[in-house]
Amino acid sequence: MTASTTPHPHLTHLIQEFEFPLDGAVAVMDAFHRRMEAGLSGQTSSLRMLPSFLSRPRGTETGRYLALDLGGTNFRVLEVSLDGAGRADIVAASRFVVPEEVMRGPGRGLFDFLAECVAEFFGRHPGGRPDEQTLAFTFSFPVEQHSVSSGTLIAWTKGFTATDVAGRDVVALLSQALNRRGLAHIRVAALVNDTVGTLLAGAYAHPACDMGVILGTGTNACYPEARKRIATLLSVGQDGEMIVNMEWGNFDGLPGNRFDAMVDDASPNPGRQRMEKMVSAMYLGELGRLAVLDLARAGVLESGIQGVLDCPFSLSSKDLALLAQGGGPGSDRFGPLAESDRQALALTGRLILDRSARIAALAVASVLTWMDPALASAHVVAVDGALFEHNPSYRAEMVRTLGLVCGKGAENIDLVLVKDGSGLGSAIAGAVAVTA
Ligand code: GLC
Repeated sequence: MTASTTPHPHLTHLIQEFEFPLDGAVAVMDAFHRRMEAGLSGQTSSLRMLPSFLSRPRGTETGRYLALDLGGTNFRVLEVSLDGAGRADIVAASRFVVPEEVMRGPGRGLFDFLAECVAEFFGRHPGGRPDEQTLAFTFSFPVEQHSVSSGTLIAWTKGFTATDVAGRDVVALLSQALNRRGLAHIRVAALVNDTVGTLLAGAYAHPACDMGVILGTGTNACYPEARKRIATLLSVGQDGEMIVNMEWGNFDGLPGNRFDAMVDDASPNPGRQRMEKMVSAMYLGELGRLAVLDLARAGVLESGIQGVLDCPFSLSSKDLALLAQGGGPGSDRFGPLAESDRQALALTGRLILDRSARIAALAVASVLTWMDPALASAHVVAVDGALFEHNPSYRAEMVRTLGLVCGKGAENIDLVLVKDGSGLGSAIAGAVAVTA
């Protein structure tokens, strides 16, 4: 396909399927607000709006804190130092890969694995143990919290299926595993979602930060809500604010296409996390693989690439981003590509990534206009996650969309990358919980 040739009708169809026209933006934002309202008032809603039992930090918290961060295939143990003047630094860190069989095996095995990693961290960093034997646990899955340091897993997301964890208190499961590993002296002081960690880390450094967003393996967001608007908190006081973990990956008000339906059908949680399956890095490569296979089957592509993509999840979101840029190692695996095919694949990659960025921006706009309908105040949005961090065009598309949807109000919105936000924020949560 060259600039002068008309695209193959099937390619035109694909463009329409992945386009996310912003003329429907108002309806999507309305639907978002309605689901937020329902979730906050305790009704069944695809936005769960889960109270975190934390508010934003003052920025003056100090000390060294131990943090655990589990959110995907990596588990991290960190020691973080807070200087009391807005600066949080990782002073020691170990990263462990969670083996597939541990993610999908018995829950007890998963928590024993985490405890073993904590022991190994102490082995590797013997001098650096904080005086207080407390830790904060970033557990990036939907959890119904009962207090800042307890909460029940509602359901696994992002491909985890470990048994006997849903419906149970994950802090109790972790504490029992630490006991079994001879680390009974360690107390879990705070349980936080990664979005909450990211907002805490953002707010520690920027006073105007009022939203935490993850655009990585999964996607989700949190923001500070007036306690009096959270129906489930009526018994524990109505003054001030509390950060609410929205679990927006489960939002069900977006129009999906046939590829979205295929990804959903083949997942371990069909019908759930529909927005996450359109937006997050875990699924974008798979959407790309299905779309490219469709083009190949429809005879749009000249090169014989079909065999390369037969295996589900064989295209990563990183590969997709490289394809979108028109080449790179992501396209090497297809062998030599006809120029028209290279262009078709680049277009497919861009369509999928742009749609993701547009949806993410619409969701950000929805939350900010919920808090501040006229967008009259400054809003710093703390964002963490590889999708946002490593794709400059992704951020650009989000900013463009915010401009189109929010008009002049968009000038008050600042999307700030808070690298390692979930881990740093976990330590801040530990500080807030210990000194509260
Ligand atoms: C999934 C989890 C959510 C987490 C997000 C980003 O959506 O359910 O809790 O915040 O991934 O990691």
